[in-house]
Amino acid sequence: ADTEKGTYDYFMLKEIDEQPFVIRKIIQHYQDEENNIKVEQAIRTEMAEADRIYIVAAGTSYNAGLVGKQVLENVAGIPVEVHIASEFSYNMPLLSEKPLFIFISQSGETADSRSVLVKTQAMGYPSITVTNVPGSTLSREADYTLPLYAGPEIAVASTKAYTAQIAVLTILAVDTAVAKGLPLEFDPLQELAIVANAMETLTDQKETFEQMSLDLFKDTRNAFYIGRGVDYYVVQEASLKLKEISYIQAEGFAGGELKHGTIALIEDGTPVIAIATQENVNYSIRGNVQEVAARGANTCIVSMEGLDQPGDTVVLPHVHSLLTPLVSVVPMQLLAYYAAVQRDCDVDKPRNLAKSVTVE
Ligand code: G6P
Repeated sequence: ADTEKGTYDYFMLKEIDEQPFVIRKIIQHYQDEENNIKVEQAIRTEMAEADRIYIVAAGTSYNAGLVGKQVLENVAGIPVEVHIASEFSYNMPLLSEKPLFIFISQSGETADSRSVLVKTQAMGYPSITVTNVPGSTLSREADYTLPLYAGPEIAVASTKAYTAQIAVLTILAVDTAVAKGLPLEFDPLQELAIVANAMETLTDQKETFEQMSLDLFKDTRNAFYIGRGVDYYVVQEASLKLKEISYIQAEGFAGGELKHGTIALIEDGTPVIAIATQENVNYSIRGNVQEVAARGANTCIVSMEGLDQPGDTVVLPHVHSLLTPLVSVVPMQLLAYYAAVQRDCDVDKPRNLAKSVTVE
């Protein structure tokens, strides 16, 4: 059953493993008989009419929103802002003429996000909730809901909801592009199916990531993750995962930014993990890795087939360049998981954290 661990030590590992199946389930739910993308007509209309999208979320859902922005802007041609719910609520930015709000929330119960929804609704603006729990507060109170179909997520550290959120936002972006008559240079459902297979290739290599986690994090107090472009968004999620469950202090940086201050923290053996899945920044991110390696960092590069170079620690199976976060995040989740296991942490119930935070 969905709410039992079965042979797994922790729900988190089970939920990491479920990701390929969740992606396939999302494909099924969002396609019609002719294998075209199917999204509620009213949502399509709102998306086509909006002049700007405001994504509002917290935690991992915020990190998924960052990736969603990249996809929505590239595919649907709509400007997108991503906001931390607790900031937006008390420090509202100037809004465009026809804003559309997208609330991303695994639980649909996050009070910080709800407080924004209450305000934007009072202002008369339309809203969509992307959630794993249809019928939750945010789902009931927003105008529309896009379900994630990820099944119950029990571990406090979110994994399958993050990838499901990105997949659903991708589908929404493509649907909007089609509604607007924009040219599409890829078949999204086919590309998502390729992603599901790539995820499976990675979850089948757990020993590799267990060993890598040991090599990187065994005696460390801190760790840095770097990336550029969409990889920068993924490293923010990678560092959050590590912090949440292993209590190792970690930060995700834009590759070019480390040298503007934080490189001062690099010592002999400091782990620096780089994600390199984007062709346009492949050389610059590798340059950033060299900068920290020259200062003694224990570096590793996670690249993608076609962009890989000799010596890369992990080479991800090739997927569409807009969808790489769905795949590159899997090793990051596993690295964090094994770091927490090695430190005897309570993986599913990290200290001080709650699965859903219903107070502001
Ligand atoms: C809590 C959880 C996080 C989660 C965040 C947002 O802080 O510990 O894992 O990302 O809430 O939750 P939501 O349900 O709104 O996605």
